[in-house]
Amino acid sequence: LGHLDDVQELRRARPWLVPDRYVRENHERPSQASLLHSDNVPVIDISNLSSPTEMAKLQSACQNWGFFQVVNHGVETCLLESMERVSREFFMLPLEEKEKYPMAPGTIQGYGHAFVFSEDQKLDWCNMLALALQPHFIRNPKLWPTNPANFSETLEMYSAGIRKLCQRLLEHIAESLGLKPYTFNEMFGEAVQAVRMNYYPPCSRPDLVLGLSPHSDGSAITVLQQDTNSVGLQILKDNAWIPVHPVHNALVINLGDTLEVLTNGRYKSIEHRVVTNEKIDRLSVATFYAPSYDLELGPLPEFISRNQPCMYKRYNHGEYSRHYVTNKLQGKKTLLEFA
Ligand code: SIN
Ligand code: FE2
Repeated sequence: LGHLDDVQELRRARPWLVPDRYVRENHERPSQASLLHSDNVPVIDISNLSSPTEMAKLQSACQNWGFFQVVNHGVETCLLESMERVSREFFMLPLEEKEKYPMAPGTIQGYGHAFVFSEDQKLDWCNMLALALQPHFIRNPKLWPTNPANFSETLEMYSAGIRKLCQRLLEHIAESLGLKPYTFNEMFGEAVQAVRMNYYPPCSRPDLVLGLSPHSDGSAITVLQQDTNSVGLQILKDNAWIPVHPVHNALVINLGDTLEVLTNGRYKSIEHRVVTNEKIDRLSVATFYAPSYDLELGPLPEFISRNQPCMYKRYNHGEYSRHYVTNKLQGKKTLLEFA
């Protein structure tokens, strides 16, 4: 990375400068967004899902939003706090230190800019550290930071907690679809888990740039931890970008492309993006949970009928993932091209 390709360095050296590579075309600019909605993303109490009312809320959140927040999720607050702390400490290190873990082009492991494939592509106002976690053979231990010293240990504990949450959520989501609770967990086999820490420095012209380009997730579900200092995440609902206001100690859940395909579109994987802030930085930790790479996926027979014809092709999930990570982030492009 050259110094000015790194947003934190850029921000430090020339706080007022927004290079062309970050300036979005008119139609993509946050200032063009119509924020018509005043609705908030639903908040679900996971500890209460044996109640039919809460279950109905989950069902509606999945069907009408594709995004929701969860409280009483069982991941300890101190674990969330320490994950946020070590991530922030990592991003605050000097560039030379972070560059010991470089993200190779076409991969999403290590520190840098993911999803960049051409010289003229616009860049996101963001630095990332991405790491594959499970199954073990997909890990690249050389890219796990040794600074801060407790980084790896914290990530291990955090990701074990988040993994349990993902499995629990998939049980409830299956139930909300009238399926046996174990349906997805059994089908997914040796499920893939990866994490991406995102750091968005403040930007002097938040009206011109994006922290993260619009995209849907290539996972089955994603668990996002966001700091509570600012509002950056927005989701596309009824053609308007709606902010996801942080709720203290809650986690943001969104459904990814895998669930859209399996449910033949009953549940949708929703486009989202991140906008920046003039004064405040933002940190988020996203965990992606997806089926084993060798799984062949397609709409389940339960969701296909005379009235609901099959809307997606069958595909191999590993090939899908490879396609997803070797192309730029662009709306629901991978899903449209692949399935
Ligand atoms: C993501 O979509 O992966 C990250 C979103 C965020 O930073 O809130
Ligand atoms: Fe995402």
